[in-house]
Amino acid sequence: MKSWQVVRYARPSEALELVELPSPEPGPSEVRLRVLAAPANFNDVDGCYGRYATVHPPLPYSLGMEAMGVVEAAGPGAESWLGKRIIATTAQVQGAYSEEALAPMDMIFAAPEFLSDEQAAAIFFPFHVAYVALHVRGALQAGDTLLVHAGAGGVGSAGVQLGVAAGARVFATAGGPKKLAFCRELGAELAIDYRAEDFLPAVLEATAGRGVDVILDLVGGDVTEQGFRAMAFNGRYLQAGFSGGIETEDTGLIPRPIVFGNFNYMGVMLAYGDALATKRAAHINIMPREVGVQVQESLNTLFAEKRIRPLIGERMPMEELPAALELLESRNTMGRVILSW
Ligand SMILES: NC(=O)c1ccc[n+]([C@@H]2O[C@H](COP(=O)([O-])OP(=O)(O)OC[C@H]3O[C@@H](n4cnc5c(N)ncnc54)[C@H](OP(=O)(O)O)[C@@H]3O)[C@@H](O)[C@H]2O)c1
Repeated sequence: MKSWQVVRYARPSEALELVELPSPEPGPSEVRLRVLAAPANFNDVDGCYGRYATVHPPLPYSLGMEAMGVVEAAGPGAESWLGKRIIATTAQVQGAYSEEALAPMDMIFAAPEFLSDEQAAAIFFPFHVAYVALHVRGALQAGDTLLVHAGAGGVGSAGVQLGVAAGARVFATAGGPKKLAFCRELGAELAIDYRAEDFLPAVLEATAGRGVDVILDLVGGDVTEQGFRAMAFNGRYLQAGFSGGIETEDTGLIPRPIVFGNFNYMGVMLAYGDALATKRAAHINIMPREVGVQVQESLNTLFAEKRIRPLIGERMPMEELPAALELLESRNTMGRVILSW
């Protein structure tokens, strides 16, 4: 089977090679899917440079966290998934940009049957991250004000849609007029070009000086520090990404604006599985599988009612993966870039 591998750390077009590998064999509670489509994922851009700290496999390794496909083999315990159309986070978050990939049962869901393969490939990370952030962690309520950074991106555009669906007043930041128009189309009341102007005065103006109840931040760095000043009393600041520079993941936080802001600073990480075993082994909190099942059910209802929709900005053949990842990196994409074999 064909597989895109990172063979050296560099920009995607230099880091990646398309190689021939044997079919991977699923272990216990794992499935092998025939990948039909996979989205370009920002974490995989960081993976090419070797700066994605969460998982750092030795070179060479097959890239790709997220895929959609059909289960063609199942390890012990996973037989009930055979033949099913699924969306998946791949095993060890690797191998999605391959013709076949492994995925653990805890991180797969049935693809909604009313979505096409490409549409289904577009939904997993954006809608699960945004739903977990806004509802599981952030307790977003109708009437709340919500600011979504990078609101035209994959996760951001899902956050804008879910905010609107929840009855929140949604503000979004994005770079450039096309992205701002896109955010407004999705229901954002206010769209701010944070590359051209400071978003803080605009947000304070729109909330009569109060600040916003919830911020969904996928960017990090200066955007985060400035965002602290835009929070309302008792607000919820949801940190879910660092596309402005993964190195800011490790920048020490300055607690003063948090203390003086009287708001909650919250982290969001998408992972479902054996929460207790992971806590013991890695001292991190992942979410029980049941949370993911409930999130997917809620999303299915919202998709079926057409209150949210998958957003595909570009479609490309899988052979053009390096160009797709560089397009994502260049900040010139809206919604998701979907690659198909
Ligand atoms: N917490 C989790 O479990 C989890 C899971 C999946 C993804 N994520 C994170 O969510 C974020 C969004 O991922 P995505 O795949 O949906 O990507 P994306 O939002 O479609 O693309 C990244 C966007 O970030 C903005 N951006 C701001 N500063 C940037 C910079 N210096 N370089 C490039 N882009 C910059 C750009 O929008 P503007 O031009 O409008 O600024 C760009 O279009 C990523 O940080 C990713 O790591 C987190």
